[in-house]
Amino acid sequence: MPKAKKKTKKTATRTTPKTSPKVTSRKKKEALRAVKGVKDILPKEMKIWDYCQSVIKKQVEPYGFQKVEMPILEKTELFERGTGEGTDIVQKEMFSFSTKGGEKVTLRPEGTPGVLRSYIEHGMHNKTQPVKVYYIGPMYRHERPQAGRYRQFHQFNLEAIGNDQPILDAEVIHISTRILKKLGLDNIEVQINSLGCPECRKDYKETLINFYAGKRRRLCDDCKKRLRRNPFRVLDCKKDKCQAVSVNVPPVVDYLCEECNDHFKRVLEYLDEVEVTYNLNSTLMRGLDYYTRTVFEFWPADSKEAAQSSLGGGGRYDGLMGTLGGRSTPGLGVALGMERIIASMQEKEVNIRGGKSPDVLLIQLGELAKKKSLRIFSELVDVGVSVREALHKDSIKSQLRLANKLGVRLAVIIGQKEATEDTVLIRDMADGVQEIVKMSKLVDEIKKGLKKKIKER
Ligand code: HAM
Repeated sequence: MPKAKKKTKKTATRTTPKTSPKVTSRKKKEALRAVKGVKDILPKEMKIWDYCQSVIKKQVEPYGFQKVEMPILEKTELFERGTGEGTDIVQKEMFSFSTKGGEKVTLRPEGTPGVLRSYIEHGMHNKTQPVKVYYIGPMYRHERPQAGRYRQFHQFNLEAIGNDQPILDAEVIHISTRILKKLGLDNIEVQINSLGCPECRKDYKETLINFYAGKRRRLCDDCKKRLRRNPFRVLDCKKDKCQAVSVNVPPVVDYLCEECNDHFKRVLEYLDEVEVTYNLNSTLMRGLDYYTRTVFEFWPADSKEAAQSSLGGGGRYDGLMGTLGGRSTPGLGVALGMERIIASMQEKEVNIRGGKSPDVLLIQLGELAKKKSLRIFSELVDVGVSVREALHKDSIKSQLRLANKLGVRLAVIIGQKEATEDTVLIRDMADGVQEIVKMSKLVDEIKKGLKKKIKER
């Protein structure tokens, strides 16, 4: 009996496929890598992100834009209807899945439909119009990752909903150029076009179909399909061969109705007034279905592939609210791509403020000093002193080294003697002069010391 048992066991082990330890370890390592097209933002880079966010906030809030935060997860149908069934985003780029309850949801590939959903859901048409909001957050598109193109990326967006005045178009473009300039990116081309309203587009669609009729063979495979579904998309194709075919396409602005023409003219006049220079780009269509009238993009003037490395873009979407099922309400917006902006800033070595050193390092030696430092440190934080600690360190030498590395002006040192006598040493890091003060007087002395240092500068 024991013999038979052994035999069965042996056979069972032999039929189980063995995974080599090498493969297992490679798989384990793979599992610890970030998902393709997605990246970490580490503390060093976060400084530049924080700086961008503070510049954005400073620039947009005076114009009445208020910060909002919309969910990253929305119903798939919202993007199918909003962004548009015919767009590359909906056709091939969405991260969609069904929840356990069977609901079809999508990680937002762009923010605009979500904002309009929120406007309808919260009855924002009852608020003072236009409703002006801004938001910064991650978006998800399943694209082929390459420089400046990620599967998770971040956008800063402005949306102004409830007004169709051309001055709003100019304002949104003007604010965007101001932000880019403040971030040190002044070599930017504003590309602008008007797509008109659905009425003007009917004629233009016919013109495009006729224009491409004899040239179909010269288009890429995607554009051959686009030509049937949506010929406007062909104009937008970034492939060289398609761009070559589109060179002599009649400009859409020649097909604008009187109202759309006047609207566009006024947008341009307002831009002239604030000295925003622009390039009238008759092939600029934008890759989303909802645009009407003004569309625009910000291209880096010094890039060979400017159209593919657009720093941002936007336009009017006067029909989108209606398409989504809300009361017809005009609106417009813009999105700037944060990763591309930050990469350009890094490339240009833009000097950002905000990397300021802390003023004080709290240094301690011995168990009692460590204990007392815990309370003292939080007291200094509470009164607003810019202070850092090194409570995990035990050696005075390494803590002084850290003080130099951080570039603090003062070190507060609590040794064993000071801890028992309830005193501290305040050391001026520039000249090494030390002063003994009572612990109870520390906050006042630090403030005095820092004031003196500021005067000396
Ligand atoms: P969009 O042109 O699709 O517009 O995106 C705006 C910007 O987001 C692009 O110009 C680019 O800087 C950045 N971006 C897009 N895809 C990627 C990617 N895969 N990797 C890195 N950056 C990327 C929109 O999203 C519209 N919702 C803008 C808008 C707001 N229109 C009206 N309101």
